Amino acid sequence: MADLAPLNESITLEQLDQSPFPIYRQLRAQAPVCRVKAAGRTFLTKAEDTRYVKNNPQLFSSDDPNTPMKRAFWAHTLMRKDGEEHLRERNAMAPAFAPRVIRDEWVPAYMRVAEGYVARLPRGEVVDLFPALNGPYCARGLAIMLGIDEASDEDMQRWSQALIDGAGNFGWRDEPFARADKANKEKHALFDRLQDRHRTEPGHSALSVMLNAPDPIPEKQIYANIKIAIGGGINEPRDALNTILFGLLTNPDQLEEVKRNGDWDKAFEEGVRWVAPISASSRRATEDTEIRGCRIPKGDTVMTIQASANRDEDLVEDGEVFNVYREKVAHQSFGNGPHFCQGTHMARRAVGDVMLPILFDRFPKMSLPDPDAVIWRGFGFRGPINMPVLLN
Ligand code: HEM
Repeated sequence: MADLAPLNESITLEQLDQSPFPIYRQLRAQAPVCRVKAAGRTFLTKAEDTRYVKNNPQLFSSDDPNTPMKRAFWAHTLMRKDGEEHLRERNAMAPAFAPRVIRDEWVPAYMRVAEGYVARLPRGEVVDLFPALNGPYCARGLAIMLGIDEASDEDMQRWSQALIDGAGNFGWRDEPFARADKANKEKHALFDRLQDRHRTEPGHSALSVMLNAPDPIPEKQIYANIKIAIGGGINEPRDALNTILFGLLTNPDQLEEVKRNGDWDKAFEEGVRWVAPISASSRRATEDTEIRGCRIPKGDTVMTIQASANRDEDLVEDGEVFNVYREKVAHQSFGNGPHFCQGTHMARRAVGDVMLPILFDRFPKMSLPDPDAVIWRGFGFRGPINMPVLLN
C-alpha cells in the first residue's frame, strides 16, 4: 500500500495568509501532494491534480459533514451537495444566469451603477478604490441580479464578509458565528419581506426565478443559495478588480496596449489567473485512493489550491509574472467540474466589459503612486485589501 503524503509541520496559516506563492512554488517542486498540519488538510498544488479532483465528484465529494459553513449559513448550500441534489438546486438559480438575461438586463444595470459610482469619484486625489468603488459596485450589481436591491451596499458587503468569515471559522469560535447569525436574521427578514413583490411582479432575478419556479426547491434552500451567491458574488469580483488594477498600473506598457486594443477581457483573465480570488477549495475522499503515488485515506479532506495550479510550471511559463499578452492559459480560478462557478460569465462582463473600460475612460492617467503601500491578504480568498490610486 502506498505511503501517506509527506507531512509538513512548518508552514503556518499566517504565512499562507500573507505570502502563499513562494510556499506553493516550493510545494509544487518538492511535495505536490502534502499534508499541511496547520491547515489540517492535504494540499494539492499541481494543475493536473486540482482538475482531476474537481472533475471526479464520486471519489471527491463536496459534502463535508463537519464544515463550519453549514453552521454559518444555517443550511447546507448547493456548494456542499453532490449529484442530483446539487444539480436540482443549481438549475433552480440558472435562469438568472442565462447569457441572454445577463446581456439584456444585468449588463445594462451594472453599466448604470458603474457610471454613477465612477462619476462621484473626485479627480486629482489619491483615493482607496477598494471601499470607494470596487466593493460598493460589486455589491450593488449583485443586489440587483439577486433581486434583493433593497439591501444597502453596506449591508451586502457586511453580510458577505460575515458569511465568508463564518464559513472559514474552522476554530469554531463564537464571534464569527454570532456575526453570521446576525447577518442571517437580517437577510431572512428581507427575503421574507420581498416574497410578495417577487410573486406579483415576477422577473429574472435569482430570488424571483426560484420563488416562481413551477416546482420550487424548499424555501430554506432558496434562502441558502441566495446567501451563497452573496458570499460568492461580491468579494471575488471586487478582489479581481483590485488585482487587475494593480497588475495594469504596475505594468504601464501592458496598460497602454490594453487601452489601445480594448483588451479588457484579456486583462481580466490574466488578473484572475495571476491571483485566484478563491485560492483553495475542499473535497472529501469517499474511499481510499491515491494521488501521485500518495495514499489518500477515505474521509481525508484534500485542498485543491487553484491559486497554485494557475502558476504551475507544467501549465504556464513565468507564471509568477502578470502578463496580459501571454499565451492563453486554461486557468482554474472558476473551478472545474459540477461546481464550476455559476457566476463566471457575470463576473467577466461586470469587470472586463463594464467597469474597467468605464474607469479608465474617465481617468485615463490613473496611477498607483506607491505600489508597496498595497497590502495583499488571504489564503482561501485572496486580493489586495486597499488600492490607493491617484485619479487623473
Ligand atoms: C472573479 C469572480 C469570481 C470567481 C473567481 C469565482 C470563483 C468561484 C469558484 C472557484 C467556485 C467553485 C468553488 C468550488 O469548486 O468549491 C465558485 C462557485 C460559485 N460561484 Fe463564483 N466566482 C466569481 C464570481 C461569482 C459571481 C459574480 C457569482 C454570482 C453572481 C458567483 C456565484 C457562484 C456560485 C453560485 C457558485 C456555486 C456553484 C455550485 O456549487 O454549483 N461567483 N465561484
